[in-house]
Amino acid sequence: MPVSIIVGGFFGDEGKGKIISYLALKDDIEIAARGGVGPNAGHTVVMGDKKYKLRQLPSAVVNKKTRLLIGPGVLINPDILIKEIEETGTHNRVGVDYQAGIIEPQHIEKDTKSSHLSKKIGTTKSGCGPANADRALRVLKIAKDIELLKEFLTDVPSELNNAIDEGKNILLEGTQGTFLSLYHGTYPYVTSKDVTAAAICSDVGIGPKKVDEIIVVFKAYVTRVGAGPLEGELDLEEIRRRGWEEIATVTGRVRRAAEFNMKLAKKAIMLNSATQIAITKLDKLFPETEGVTNYSSLPKKAKEFIETIEGELKVPVTLIGTGPELHQIIDLRKEKL
Ligand code: GTP
Ligand code: IMP
Ligand code: MG
Repeated sequence: MPVSIIVGGFFGDEGKGKIISYLALKDDIEIAARGGVGPNAGHTVVMGDKKYKLRQLPSAVVNKKTRLLIGPGVLINPDILIKEIEETGTHNRVGVDYQAGIIEPQHIEKDTKSSHLSKKIGTTKSGCGPANADRALRVLKIAKDIELLKEFLTDVPSELNNAIDEGKNILLEGTQGTFLSLYHGTYPYVTSKDVTAAAICSDVGIGPKKVDEIIVVFKAYVTRVGAGPLEGELDLEEIRRRGWEEIATVTGRVRRAAEFNMKLAKKAIMLNSATQIAITKLDKLFPETEGVTNYSSLPKKAKEFIETIEGELKVPVTLIGTGPELHQIIDLRKEKL
């Protein structure tokens, strides 16, 4: 489909990076644009023996032909972005919108020193909250003020809308997850912006009618980092016993975990008007599914898990992750769409 959005259905870290990187290659994506908050995100992309931890660049980076854009609604830490561009050798295909907000050292300092932010909310201390506060006050610097970013500056909404008119394949990448949304999440234990599909459209500058597919990604269980409610939270010992232990990409914290939450998932489907569901980490619920790429090879219990989700949420499960590597996936789009 020409224009697809990928967003998280729980509290972030659902494995969006893995799903996006697979789609970027499989669907010959010409342009990928990042929406979402900023470098508080950490996407893990694994291709073969290469592993990327991306905080600023779109996860579509794995496709060498894809143009990589960052929308005007996204915050940029120039040092982090430049380092990622160097590490991935992507100078000639990255574009940053003129109006993307800039995180400065003072924002990181505020995020770290404020006990409300760093302790009560448990932020990533990446400066995103204070920078978005400055944006609301209209004192934040934007990308066009920054010499270091000059060679990358572009008009992201125009690039995207022109590409849409030409019928090109486009991926819009969300970050964080529905229940970290400033408006729809577990306030005040949320991030500093809305992060649902509608917000991602606005972050990159396209209207909602231009979107063909909205893929909501759920992990096969729920994880959360930072403070805030997590229904059915398991203790660390039980998390380890189940093999669900994860270390957060940006902060190195241990992720809290609970079983798949159908009530939250239903609300995420509603808030994002999902047209497809991706489930990641099926292999962590059913180890025998590791690396499986065809649905008929799944054991009965795993099929029942997927079918229950589909039955309850009334949206097709089209992509199923069975391992961290981007090809460890079951792609059911041909059969189901
Ligand atoms: P944010 O934008 O920070 O919310 O991150 P994200 O949604 O891109 O997820 P993140 O990479 O932070 O966390 C997901 C973790 O699960 C990573 O370690 C991935 O490598 C891993 N992962 C993703 N899909 C699968 C899967 O199907 N199976 C297994 N075993 N691991 C997976
Ligand atoms: P902030 O976005 O750094 O202000 O953090 C606010 C809350 O959102 C904290 O609970 C963070 O742990 C959480 N958070 C922010 N970004 C991510 C992410 O990419 N994955 C998971 N949690 C996140
Ligand atoms: Mg993450």
